[in-house]
Amino acid sequence: MTTTPHISVQNLNVHIENQHILKDISINIPNKSVTSIIGPSGCGKTTLLKSFNRLLDNIPNVKIDGKVLVDGENIYDPSVEVTHIRKKMGLLSQRPYPLPMSVYDNVAYGPRIHGIRKKK
Ligand SMILES: Nc1ncnc2c1ncn2[C@@H]1O[C@H](COP(=O)(O)OP(=O)(O)OP(=O)(O)O)[C@@H](O)[C@H]1O
Ligand SMILES: [Mg+2]
Repeated sequence: MTTTPHISVQNLNVHIENQHILKDISINIPNKSVTSIIGPSGCGKTTLLKSFNRLLDNIPNVKIDGKVLVDGENIYDPSVEVTHIRKKMGLLSQRPYPLPMSVYDNVAYGPRIHGIRKKK
């Protein structure tokens, strides 16, 4: 059975501080199915997942090449707005991963990007 991939990673290379972390990764992840990524500690699983909603952008000295298509849209295209990507892509991380803003704003981030502004 052929299904259109929900996420398509094409020749993704990630360098952090001159270390080549993800090396030419290409993978199609189908919609409505469970996909697991396995590998030894430090092989780059979390880095790959972070690349799916542009969480790597905040790392100093990071260089990202290649494409990550979500529903056919390259999320690394300069015209793409990060909030639009993060609305569609949730990530439950192994360790707390606050964005560079206050704890309050981190907690409020999810509801806010979905248009909920009432404090209650
Ligand atoms: N912010 C960062 N700065 C420098 N190096 C980093 C950073 N994030 C990840 N790395 C390096 O990238 C490599 C891959 O790390 P990553 O956390 O993606 O591995 P992992 O497969 O998720 O490991 P684990 O199974 O332990 O969770 C490691 O060598 C790690 O040290
Ligand atoms: Mg990890």
